[in-house]
Amino acid sequence: MDTDVQPDVVRIFDTTLRDGEQSPGASLNSAEKLEIARHLAELGVDIIEAGFPAASPDDLAAVRRIAEEVGTADGPVICGLARCVRIDIEKCWEAVQYAAKPRIHTFISTSDIHLKYQFNMTREQALERAREMVRLARSLCADVEFSTMDAGRSEWSYVAQVCAAAIEEGATTINVPDTVGYMMPEEYGRMMAWVIENTPGGRNPGIIWSVHCHNDLGLATANTLAGLVAGARQAEVTINGIGERAGNTSLEEVVMSINTRKDYYSFGTNINSKHIARVSRMVANYTGIPVQPNKAIVGANAFAHEAGIHQDGQLKNRETYEIMTPESVGLSDSKLVLGKHSGRHAVKARLRDLGYALDDDKMTEVFKRFKEVADKKKHITDADLQAILSDQIEGPTEYFKLRGIQVTCGQLDMPTATLKLEGPDGRIHVEAAVGVGPVDAVYGAIDRIVKVSNKLLEFVVHAITEGVDAQGEVTVRICTLDGEYQTFGGHGSDPDIIVASGKAYLAAINRMLAAVGTEQIKPEGERAAVSLPGAD
Ligand code: KIV
Ligand code: ZN
Repeated sequence: MDTDVQPDVVRIFDTTLRDGEQSPGASLNSAEKLEIARHLAELGVDIIEAGFPAASPDDLAAVRRIAEEVGTADGPVICGLARCVRIDIEKCWEAVQYAAKPRIHTFISTSDIHLKYQFNMTREQALERAREMVRLARSLCADVEFSTMDAGRSEWSYVAQVCAAAIEEGATTINVPDTVGYMMPEEYGRMMAWVIENTPGGRNPGIIWSVHCHNDLGLATANTLAGLVAGARQAEVTINGIGERAGNTSLEEVVMSINTRKDYYSFGTNINSKHIARVSRMVANYTGIPVQPNKAIVGANAFAHEAGIHQDGQLKNRETYEIMTPESVGLSDSKLVLGKHSGRHAVKARLRDLGYALDDDKMTEVFKRFKEVADKKKHITDADLQAILSDQIEGPTEYFKLRGIQVTCGQLDMPTATLKLEGPDGRIHVEAAVGVGPVDAVYGAIDRIVKVSNKLLEFVVHAITEGVDAQGEVTVRICTLDGEYQTFGGHGSDPDIIVASGKAYLAAINRMLAAVGTEQIKPEGERAAVSLPGAD
């Protein structure tokens, strides 16, 4: 059990891989979860909630892998979620026990509406269940967190009573969630202060109070900060604020509020904020949930100054309109541009400055792609480099590889795409299709070759840099049509927007194949593909 409570440090509990993954449309495979967990550890989060092991054998395996590979002695606590149900707690322990610092997080509702309609329990029964299940969790694991779900709509004195029972049974982190994002900041702060003060044992040494807020009224960050001011020392957050419905509190907003207003808050965090932009980008790519452009801290416009008067002030003194620097969250303001004459060393050095240490094989891949982009685009900026990395390093296993796209489009003809893909067996397939536009035609041609049923849910395009030669970045989301409607995201960038669109769709399909199995690919005979002469 960790009893080292430092009053001036807020523990950052990241639940991107659990509550965040519950976002409509987010679905991560176990390799992606592991990669995100590695980056969260680098970012400096104190606790990673890696999943809900009882939800499925895949979830259990993913949490176990993160516990084994990321939960090292000097790494973060690895936590799993469990309802106050024996089997959940046992499965949770089965997964997290491999971490050097494991945690079981168990929860039950305290609001009358949840108890009546969802749990079919009286308050007394819920209290007894919480007591028994915390005791069970504590018999397995030294570090137990307990949550009173829907505390925001519960009677405060009952919340305090249930928390007291959890503390008595050995829980050391007590979380008081505003599950449905109902509370106002002043009210949530008042509730936290009241519950902390009125829970017997609430001020015992080693007890950490935690806040967990949802964003239904856009108040998750404000509520979280109010809860911290009231005495909580753990904040439960997700990258980019993804999560159920309108999402969870966003990690970057809480951390940068605390960092930017050191004069106002009496606490700090262990986060290395320079990793924020990179993790944000990775989560957006893997989940297929793009960040809205005006999102605080990590949105594309978060540091853009458009109005003339702002630009003028900004040039005279950055602080006229900038309360934090883009560099502080890992965005570069470098004017240094690379081009087609830049050598491997220059590119490697720039990547190192941006925080990417690539091994030789990865560097070769990235440098090859850099040269291809530099042939089409005169100046390669840091944003271009980051987009290349997202494609080359953070892309899925490539069962199908894009080998060529040709489109004809315009007002007179039917938009037509001809496509060349390399299949999993190394064979080259060529197909053509018409569509309502060139992207539709490209997707039609890909479907003809790959032949795995799916539905396109979302297609988002934006320019990475300014100018007509800017790289276009496309994010798509697709779902399976097998009744489970699992969703998968894909990302692609290229100076040619049609190529970027093709790459993004193929990345989503490859991610889907990794999850559902390549046996879903129709056999050769059933595909309308043409083998090129001499391709074998
Ligand atoms: O929002 C919530 O109440 C939760 C709990 C399971 C902690 O996510
Ligand atoms: Zn939640």
